[in-house]
Amino acid sequence: MSLSSKIRLGVIGAGNIGGVHVQQFANLSELCKIQGITDIVQSRAQALAAQHSIPNVYTSAEALIQSEEIDAVIIGVPNQFHAPYAVQALAAGKHVLLEKPMGLNGADARQIYEASLASDKVLMVAHQMRFEAVASQIKEQVERGELGRIYTAKTGWYRRKGIPGWGTWFTQMEQSGGGPLIDIGVHMLDLALYLMGNPKPVSVYGATYAEFGPNRKGIGNWGTPDWNGIYDVEDLATALIKMEDGSTLSLEVSWAVHSDTDNTPFIRLMGSDGGATYRGAQGLLHTEKFNRPLDSELLKPEQDEGERMRLSRHFLDCIGSGRTPISSALTGLTNNLVLDAVYESSRTGNEVKLNWDV
Ligand SMILES: NC(=O)c1ccc[n+]([C@@H]2O[C@H](COP(=O)([O-])OP(=O)(O)OC[C@H]3O[C@@H](n4cnc5c(N)ncnc54)[C@H](O)[C@@H]3O)[C@@H](O)[C@H]2O)c1
Repeated sequence: MSLSSKIRLGVIGAGNIGGVHVQQFANLSELCKIQGITDIVQSRAQALAAQHSIPNVYTSAEALIQSEEIDAVIIGVPNQFHAPYAVQALAAGKHVLLEKPMGLNGADARQIYEASLASDKVLMVAHQMRFEAVASQIKEQVERGELGRIYTAKTGWYRRKGIPGWGTWFTQMEQSGGGPLIDIGVHMLDLALYLMGNPKPVSVYGATYAEFGPNRKGIGNWGTPDWNGIYDVEDLATALIKMEDGSTLSLEVSWAVHSDTDNTPFIRLMGSDGGATYRGAQGLLHTEKFNRPLDSELLKPEQDEGERMRLSRHFLDCIGSGRTPISSALTGLTNNLVLDAVYESSRTGNEVKLNWDV
């Protein structure tokens, strides 16, 4: 690919994940060029630009989005800004790689979904777990029909002491949309639904709890606490999600909990002909042969370029080929509708039917 046909990327947000994306795409310099970056804290954008020889530091997200030098925008800012920037970028004719959760809530996600329908550009949600080696091997077996009909699944991720950035945007409902449910639960929900074969969620019963955060307990080492800030989100969420095809998914995630957890995300798929267990870098396939239980181990290959690299390639590939990404605006909307329903169910004490009026 010649220099002129490389995809020119602009990064909005030079925080944790902005830095990760810059690192990944910098390794794909034969396909793309990081042309610009911005952050409301300009010094962060300047530092990352200097480190990776990024030519332009824009003074605002709007200026980056409107720039004719940018083809695709990577959005890695607090959740409340996802919809405004993604909608603006699509309207300006840019492709978008948007961090998870797609929206702060279902209403924001609907806006992004509609903007994506009205655009011929790529909108991809950054669900890198779909690209993990073990998850991909399980997906392959599901697609081959080896598990038969997956009638139920269980997923979770328990952090024992892992509240990120107490008092910062992470723990403020207005800016984040929620606690561990929207932060790590969205990854597990997304991956579980994907591995189950994308059944359509129709109803949710859920509950959320905040036993640690309000008491300034359970603080993790991700992000620097701001003790002048507030904590008004949950620190554990649990839910049962029912699908149109009758299958069910149980989900439970925590930022903080008194339990014997090793902080590994997990999924158990239970199918009519086989099962699968995902535990991060390890997995198992379960079936029966010779009238005996049989397990096959799945491992991450030693030489693995990694899920984030595959995610970055997939984004660029979708731009080049016009393909719809595997984590599209519709998957982002689905996840947000389920998350909203968990919060609503927790508030009302009732089962919530999903509003698929899109
Ligand atoms: N896919 C993953 O595994 C993963 C991991 C971490 C974070 N995330 C997501 O990435 C996003 C950012 O998280 P983070 O951990 O990088 O947070 P962060 O706080 O480290 O970084 C956010 C950056 O955005 C900047 N910013 C804030 N408001 C802005 C605005 N209006 N315009 C421009 N810049 C703005 C901040 O100054 C900061 O530098 C969140 O949506 C989060 O859920 C995803």
